Amino acid sequence: MIILIRNGTIINADETKSADVLIEGNKIKAIDKHIETQADLILDANGKYLIPGGIDVHTHLDMPYGEIKTRDDFETGTIAAAFGGTTSIIDFAIQSKGQNLQESLNIWFEKAKNAVIDYGLHLIITDVNQNILSEIKKLIEIGVTSFKLFTAYPDRLMLSDEKIFQVMLKASEYGGLILMHAENGEVIDYLISQALKDGKKEPIYHAITRPSQLEAEAVYRSIMLASTSNSPVYFVHVSSGDAVDVINFARQRYKRIFSETCPHYLLLTEDELRKPNFEGAKYVLSPPLRKKVDLEKLWNAIQKSEIDTIATDHCPLNFEGDKKLGIDNFTKIPNGGPGIENRIQLIYHFGVVERKITLNRWVELISTNPAKIFGLFPEKGKISIGSDADIVIWNPDVEHTISSKTHHMNVDYNMFEGFRLKGNSEVVISNGEIIIKDNKFIGKLGRGKFLKRREFNN
Ligand code: URP
Ligand code: ZN
Ligand code: ZN
Repeated sequence: MIILIRNGTIINADETKSADVLIEGNKIKAIDKHIETQADLILDANGKYLIPGGIDVHTHLDMPYGEIKTRDDFETGTIAAAFGGTTSIIDFAIQSKGQNLQESLNIWFEKAKNAVIDYGLHLIITDVNQNILSEIKKLIEIGVTSFKLFTAYPDRLMLSDEKIFQVMLKASEYGGLILMHAENGEVIDYLISQALKDGKKEPIYHAITRPSQLEAEAVYRSIMLASTSNSPVYFVHVSSGDAVDVINFARQRYKRIFSETCPHYLLLTEDELRKPNFEGAKYVLSPPLRKKVDLEKLWNAIQKSEIDTIATDHCPLNFEGDKKLGIDNFTKIPNGGPGIENRIQLIYHFGVVERKITLNRWVELISTNPAKIFGLFPEKGKISIGSDADIVIWNPDVEHTISSKTHHMNVDYNMFEGFRLKGNSEVVISNGEIIIKDNKFIGKLGRGKFLKRREFNN
């Protein structure tokens, strides 16, 4: 299929230009001021932006969570992502205790069969021994190049400093990237036990027992372990001003540090957890929502390019049935919130329209930097000749209101309910196929392909 997009304004991280774009098959064939050619389809993008398809590098689809699991699977989750202009995700496969890494990965390959956009996989390592360490090389060869480790959730996901260090050494040897969930799990568990002893069981105590100093401490410790092993390290879901300060301080000496934040940390505060009728549970996620001062500091870091990416940490759990498991005790509220559909819209409205970040920076945060850091550039993350034809036609003027009544995520609430936004994706093209048009999904189930990512080279 040959598609010609006329008269759009291309927004890449490093340039803005008005041009026609010719798509042939799954690739971008030509970009020029004016292209005269036969095409199967001509789309007029006059007054619209053309941006590279969004890349959300932090999602949890079909993820088991004790007795329950996240409500979006790879079908509903990737369709919702596509509606919001995201054409690639990187989801997290999880190693169960006692399982080898290839077994864990196979489970996620099976889950991902119905994906409608391209998907890569990270692997969460929870159980480390010599056999596991020896699998890392093979995983990087097959394109699973990033490994998430936890300093939080003792007994479940947390690794000791020694194990973290061992994985860092091994991953860096073969070009892997370490992703850290940085919070001091042991001290948090102590604070939780004290809160429960005092009868403090409401959702707000989730935030109070996970103070930002304990994120900053774990960030600093992780950076020191990474620099000792000369491993690159990427901090997922950075939530606090303290963590940003630590990263900035450490970067003066050690450069291989990358960071991600999420829309909820930029737009919501811990006050949400105080909502009546247990509604605060909708905002129980980790690290927790912080204070206004943290939110401002994160925006400041976005503006100064101190944060590299914005991902969603999409972890959709229903209010009814899932979140309510913790109605009598905040520690029983499953952690996580939905967001895969709204990331690009929220950062356009609150970043570009309201806080005047440039269009180029917006694209850099939601597509280009994710592609560069996670071994997908320049096939993804840029509108350029030879790149994958993942293109979003973005209407900067259209207004819409976020609501769980109209969103496409399979979850019964939206953390941004009622937010009125300017700007939205209008047509979404993935690998040369139109998958969203006229507010409808028109792609085929299972069309998304696995992204074999290149090793880390920074
Ligand atoms: O609360 C959250 N973010 N749940 C998802 C798991 C994680 O740590 O990213
Ligand atoms: Zn995490
Ligand atoms: Zn996560």
